[in-house]
Amino acid sequence: KHTPNITVVLKRKAAEKALSGSLAVTNESTSPIEGQKPGTSGLRKKTKVFMGKNYLENFVQSTFDALKATGVPVEGGTIVIGGDGRYFNKDATQLIAKMSVANGVKTIWMGNDALLSTPAASAVIRTREGGFVPFGAFILSASHNPGGLDEDFGIKFNCENGGPAPEKVTEKIFENTTKISEYKICKGFPTIDLTTKGTYVVEGKIRVDVFDCAEDHVGLLMKVFDFEAIKKLIARKDFSMVYDSMNGVQGPYARRVFIDELGAPESVLMNAVPKEDFGGKDTPSHGHADPNLTYAVELVQKMGTNKTGEKVGSGDGVPEFGAAADGDADRNMILGKQWFVSPSDSLAIIAANAGCIPYFKEGLKGCARSMPTSGALDLVAKKKKIPCFVVPTGWKFFGNLMDSGDERYFPDSDIYTPFLCGEESFGTGSSHVREKDGMWAVLAWLQILASKNQDESKPLVSVEQITKDHWKVYGRNYYCRYDYEGVSSESASTMMKNLIEKLPTLKGTEMKGMKFESAENFEYNDPVDKSVSSNQGVQICFTDGSRIIFRLSGTGSAGATIRLYLEKYEKPSGNLDLSQFEVVKPLAELALELSDLSNLTGRNEPTVIT
Ligand code: G6P
Ligand code: ZN
Repeated sequence: KHTPNITVVLKRKAAEKALSGSLAVTNESTSPIEGQKPGTSGLRKKTKVFMGKNYLENFVQSTFDALKATGVPVEGGTIVIGGDGRYFNKDATQLIAKMSVANGVKTIWMGNDALLSTPAASAVIRTREGGFVPFGAFILSASHNPGGLDEDFGIKFNCENGGPAPEKVTEKIFENTTKISEYKICKGFPTIDLTTKGTYVVEGKIRVDVFDCAEDHVGLLMKVFDFEAIKKLIARKDFSMVYDSMNGVQGPYARRVFIDELGAPESVLMNAVPKEDFGGKDTPSHGHADPNLTYAVELVQKMGTNKTGEKVGSGDGVPEFGAAADGDADRNMILGKQWFVSPSDSLAIIAANAGCIPYFKEGLKGCARSMPTSGALDLVAKKKKIPCFVVPTGWKFFGNLMDSGDERYFPDSDIYTPFLCGEESFGTGSSHVREKDGMWAVLAWLQILASKNQDESKPLVSVEQITKDHWKVYGRNYYCRYDYEGVSSESASTMMKNLIEKLPTLKGTEMKGMKFESAENFEYNDPVDKSVSSNQGVQICFTDGSRIIFRLSGTGSAGATIRLYLEKYEKPSGNLDLSQFEVVKPLAELALELSDLSNLTGRNEPTVIT
């Protein structure tokens, strides 16, 4: 009845190397440090804050204490440690290893050079050694936030299912950080040589495996997709592609997938060597390893569009396909020749074409999107007659739905795997892991392209064509997001508070010729574990199907970021060829008036539009 978990068993012949050191545990005294509350995706702060006395130590010990208190088998267990390669990644990895051993861990798994992309860490937990061996992973990443001594660092904990720690765990971690008085460390535990793959056995007792950071994840992806079919597409004379790893962790994965496995030329790879500062301020992205039209400047230029996704130039010499990943490689951006695919559309198009992907060949069992993501997915789900869940922003909410198909967690509930899910914030993925997966999304698109382009004698069906064909069937959800970054936390919360107070009065009234259909402070009732998450953003719907959403970002490291999401639906018979940015402008004006954003925050223009 259940879809079996994918098992990947790789042939490994690691030479064991004995290492000496001391396993003596010391309890170092410490005191609570303010502000260690994990956000949407772990704890993120300035790197220098993390490097400050006991900062990382306090958080790691608080995590171990939270795990032990909830019955997680830390003692004698296996842990995964790795990160996105940003500044301080390597030192943090070694420190966490010493603390893990002091907390009773017996086996440590680490990617070479302390690297593991977020989806790869999830794949390692779930599939390495036949599956589900470690009790969790520390992932060192601040995702797409710039890295470097003066930029950001981050840490998150993923559980034994490979997904981000649920709120009840992160709350416990935070509570512990406010009370901590000592941490455990094995000061004499040797520093591990992360440049050399192999198995190290310390004092005959502790095992440390340093392995190729890409092998498990790529091994898994090769089971999910038909690489041979994609290889044929890539070999077509009229097909070409580029992939921008944005100097983040994806480089080694991209090389393995595109060059080693799919036989693509070197020219496919852009910025494929991980850098501690993601290239820094002097690169076109200014060190923002964030795959969107604003920051992936080099790729966007190569693909022949401008910052708003419009065509620039003749298109001669522009590749047929282009994509990018963020710092920790869980995000993706999909481009065709002079063509931008919005993340919400990308999700819906993958859902509509799921039959092309081997992992989904027996049919998708369910899908989900975050609340601010456009309703394009819902239209596909309706047609396919599969459940479509709407969850708060944050990948962790998808995990429960996917695990409902896993007998170890929810024996009696409905089964939603294979499952597809995604977010407007350039995140797409499936139940093959418990994180969004940048490489997965790219391979999903390549598989769809491969499936539609099997006959080389026929002209290539492009990404643009696939998108337009989709709109002709389902209509188009014009969509766009305005970000107001670095707003004072106080004015941002005042704005939200005022707005929330206004909500009950809106229904049935009109503003600027638009009639309010509903207005709510979004609350999610998890159908699987029955937990309730409130205050997840203000959602206002109009009678013509349009929506505006206000939400405060949960991933910033300083001040507040207000996000305004705008959506307008156009039927298949309507005008499908307008600019999304123009179409939603009237909605933006209404939203700004309703929220009084400019007055309250002093901002007249958004910082970023995507
Ligand atoms: C991270 C999470 C995503 C989430 C995003 C939201 O990337 O992994 O699941 O969508 O943060 O960020 P925000 O800044 O809008 O809270
Ligand atoms: Zn990320």
